[in-house]
This record gives sequence, structure tokens and C-alpha cells, in this order.
Amino acid sequence: MNKTKTTTETDLARINAIVAEYSQQKWALIPLLQQIQNEVGYIPPESIQAIARATGLFPSQVQGVISFYTQLYTEPRGRSVVRVCRGTACHVRGGKTILKLVKQHLELEEGETTPDLEYSLETVACIGVCALAPNLVVGDHVYGHMNPKKVEQLFKNRKDGG
Ligand code: FES
Repeated sequence: MNKTKTTTETDLARINAIVAEYSQQKWALIPLLQQIQNEVGYIPPESIQAIARATGLFPSQVQGVISFYTQLYTEPRGRSVVRVCRGTACHVRGGKTILKLVKQHLELEEGETTPDLEYSLETVACIGVCALAPNLVVGDHVYGHMNPKKVEQLFKNRKDGG
């Protein structure tokens, strides 16, 4: 997994300020975690003790909640998240090849983030636009009818070092 970014003093100070707002409010664990993630981009593992103390929970309970919600992350993620569809419609129209090519272009496996924190790679079951299969999403933008040339075009700048 990506270990290129360590939590900075500034990140921890921002986290402590957020944690202080939610002190002794067990019910507020989820909003607190979401706010930290919005602010810093993820929930650094070293902040879990402070979150547990503030909310009156055990660190294992906080960790359990983070693990349960797939939209909460304990590692840094890329500024753009690339999601390649693995649903049936995309699969039968070449989704597997698209995923393989994206992995090659970004030099990433699923769940990983580029060292420059530009991209993270994920797969999804279906993004709901099967008629455009095979699909991938970069950030909020859906790219339909993907083929090897389009994948290359999409990540061309990356290959050129841009
Ligand atoms: S299967 Fe890919 S969008 Fe539905």
C-alpha cells in the first residue's frame, strides 16, 4: 500500500481541532470521521486514539467503524479516483482489458495510489450506465465505450510525464 505521505504536523493539528469540537459525543463518531476525511483526505491511523478518547469509545470500536464503511480511508488517496467498472455488461464488452490497460498506464494495482498522489485505482460492480459499456469513471466524469486507444488518450499526459 501507499506509504509515500506521512501525516504532517499541520494535518494532526487540524484533526485535533476537529476532534475537540466533537468531544464526548459518541453519536457524532461518523460525522467526526467524515469531517476529518474531508479536511485531510483520509483518517490517519495515528489519530484513532484521540478520536476514541474524545468520543468515549475504545480505539478498536473506532477502527471497527472505519473498516465497516468502505468510503472511509486510513491511507492517503489520489486527487483523482479512477473507478473501472467490473459489472457484467462492461465485463462482456472488454472491461477486463480496460482494467489491465489502466493498471499498466498508471502502474497501479487496485486499491493503490500513485506516489505523487494524483490517482487512486478502484473497481466497482456497476456504475449504472451499462448501455455505454465498457465504462470507467475519473473523479465524477464517466467515460463510456472505452477501448485501448481511449485509455491511452486519457492517461497520455501521465505517460509523457505531465
Ligand atoms: S456493468 Fe458497467 S455500467 Fe453497468
